[in-house]
Amino acid sequence: MNATIETILSRRSIRSFQDKPLKEEDLKTIMDCALHAPSARGLQTWKFTVIESREKIQELAKAMGEALGRAGYDMYQPQVIIIPSNERTSPYGMEDNACALENIFLAAASLGIGSVWINQLRDVCDEPAVRSLLREYHIPDEHVVYGLAALGYGNGEPAPKERIGKVEYIR
Ligand SMILES: Cc1cc2nc3c(=O)[nH]c(=O)nc-3n(C[C@H](O)[C@H](O)[C@H](O)COP(=O)(O)O)c2cc1C
Repeated sequence: MNATIETILSRRSIRSFQDKPLKEEDLKTIMDCALHAPSARGLQTWKFTVIESREKIQELAKAMGEALGRAGYDMYQPQVIIIPSNERTSPYGMEDNACALENIFLAAASLGIGSVWINQLRDVCDEPAVRSLLREYHIPDEHVVYGLAALGYGNGEPAPKERIGKVEYIR
């Protein structure tokens, strides 16, 4: 099996992270992979905001938790979050961002870095307290967020997960 297939087949969502910073060069490689994801008509209207400050991640999680009514919400305390945003009027912004996120997850896994999709920002990205933080991070007001990637070195090895989706070949 080649290394790409092996990474795809072994990647799992990681929800418990070590308190250990990621290497800058790894993060740069991951972001390069995000930028190489497919996008509809090649428009690439996305922006990627990489937050490496644990304090700022906590601050955003707190604002999200308050907007969601979830006390103690912490996005699993990752080392880094990557927020892909996209123009709210882009008809394919959600799909484009999802492709970029998958590239991020796979690149991270190939480098031994754990990751998970965090969905909650999509529901609260326009709540005033959350939007005000996004503005501080230079995410344009005309951008929305569909999901973000939480990253860090995982605690322990995840077990494989049974795949139950159906595949049918018509020949
Ligand atoms: C659109 C989408 C939203 C998701 N949202 C969350 C989330 O908010 N929190 C979370 O822990 N995992 C989230 N996940 C991760 C899934 O729960 C996970 O991919 C699934 O359980 C399969 O496990 P695996 O990634 O380890 O293969 C999301 C995944 C997708 C594709």
